[in-house]
Amino acid sequence: MLDSSKRLIGFAPPSIDEECIAAVERVLRSGWITSGPELSAFEMELEAYLLSQRVLCFSSWTTACELALRWFGIGPGDDVLIPAMTYAATANIVLHCGARPVLVDIDPLERVVSLENLKAAWTPHTKAVMPVDLGGWPVDYPGISQWLNSAPIRAQFLPTNEVQTAFGRPLFLSDAAHSFGATCENAPVGTQADITGFSFHAVKNLTTAEGGALSFALPPALDLEKTTAWFRAMALHGQSKSALEKSQSGTWQYDVVEAGYKCNMTDIQAAIGRSQLKTYPDHLQRRKAIATRYSQALSPVSWCTLPLLQDAQRESAYHLYSIRIEGFDSKQRDALMQQLKNDGIATNVHFIPLPLLSLHRNRGEDLRNYPESAACFQEQLSLPIHVQLLDEDVDWIAERLQFHVEKLMRNPT
Ligand SMILES: Cc1ncc(COP(=O)(O)O)c(C=O)c1O
Repeated sequence: MLDSSKRLIGFAPPSIDEECIAAVERVLRSGWITSGPELSAFEMELEAYLLSQRVLCFSSWTTACELALRWFGIGPGDDVLIPAMTYAATANIVLHCGARPVLVDIDPLERVVSLENLKAAWTPHTKAVMPVDLGGWPVDYPGISQWLNSAPIRAQFLPTNEVQTAFGRPLFLSDAAHSFGATCENAPVGTQADITGFSFHAVKNLTTAEGGALSFALPPALDLEKTTAWFRAMALHGQSKSALEKSQSGTWQYDVVEAGYKCNMTDIQAAIGRSQLKTYPDHLQRRKAIATRYSQALSPVSWCTLPLLQDAQRESAYHLYSIRIEGFDSKQRDALMQQLKNDGIATNVHFIPLPLLSLHRNRGEDLRNYPESAACFQEQLSLPIHVQLLDEDVDWIAERLQFHVEKLMRNPT
C-alpha cells in the first residue's frame, strides 16, 4: 500500500499529459506559432462546451476583462461593484480604467457576494457589476440578471456612449476565473452574464499556462459580430487584420482605427487548451469525487464548515476546496498551514480581503466595513484539490488536518 505520509502533496500542480506535450510540439513544428488556426479551433470548441454564442481567447483573464470594461466605456466617475474577498486582479482592472472599485461584503455561507449586498451597494454611479464565483461556486446569476434588468435600475442608468445606450443598464461582467465547468440552472456558467471571464492561468482547472477567455451572451440590441470584431482588433493593437490574415497573399494591407492593446492568445497556448479540454469532463468528475470525499471525511467534524458544492440550482466547478475552521484566527490558521507543510501537504488561503492590501488601505478602505470577509479570512483554509490526488491522499490530508487543528485548539499558540 502507498505510504501517503511520504508523498509530497502540491496545492494545484498542472495536469500535463503526453498528448498535450505532443500538441505543443505539433504547433511548434507547424510554421505558425502565434494566433492562428489552433486558436480558432480552441475558441470553437469552447463555444460548444459552454453552449455559448461566442468565445474569444486572450492572454489572461486580466487583459480580457479589462478590455470588456473598456468596451463598455468604464472610466473616471464610474463605479464597479466587486467583492471585498477576491484576487487583486478583479479590482486592478477597474483602477486601470480610472474607475472606482466599490467593495461588497460576501455572504458568510456562500462566500460570494449576495444579491442583497449588491443591491445595498448600488448607486446611480454603478456602471458595471462584477461578482466572483469564488472557488468555482456560481453567484446568483438569475437573481443578479433580473435585478439589473429591473425598471428602477434601468430608469436611473445614465448612458454615456452607444454601447451603454444599447444596454440601458449596467454591464453584468462575471469574474468566472474559478468556475469554468460550473453550472447554474442546468446551463454552463458562461451563458448567464452579459460577458463571462474565465482564467486559464497555471493553477486553474483548465490551463493554457497563462490565458483567459470571454464568453458572450449580449442583449439582442447589441451586434455580436461587430462587438467581437472590436475585441479581436483591440487585442492586436486595434489592427483591422491579424498577422495570419496579413500573411495571406494579396491581403497584406491593414488599418488601425484605435490605440489597441496586445493581449492575444497564441496557437501554442491554444494547443495546450484544446488538449486540456478533451480530458476536462473526466477531470471535473475526479475533482467532484475528491471534494465529495473531503466532505464525507469532514462533515462529522464540529469545528469544520464545508464549502458549498451543489444545490438545487447550481453546481461548483470544484476549483477550490476551502473550509472554515470555526473560532480560529489567522495566526492559528498560519500555524496550521506550517504544520501541514511539515507533513508535506501544501495549502493556501483564498483570499486576503482587499482592504488588508496596502493598495486598498491607501484608497481609504477599512476591513471593519466588511465583517463577513474579515471573519472568513481568519478561519479560511484551502486544501489541495487536483487530479493527481489519490483517494488515500485525501484521507491522509483530512486526518492530518483534524490532528493539527485539535492540537492547536488544545494548545493555542
Ligand atoms: C478571482 C480571480 N479573478 C481574476 C484572476 C486573474 O486571472 P489571470 O491570472 O488569468 O489574469 C484570478 C487569478 O488567479 C482570480 O483568482
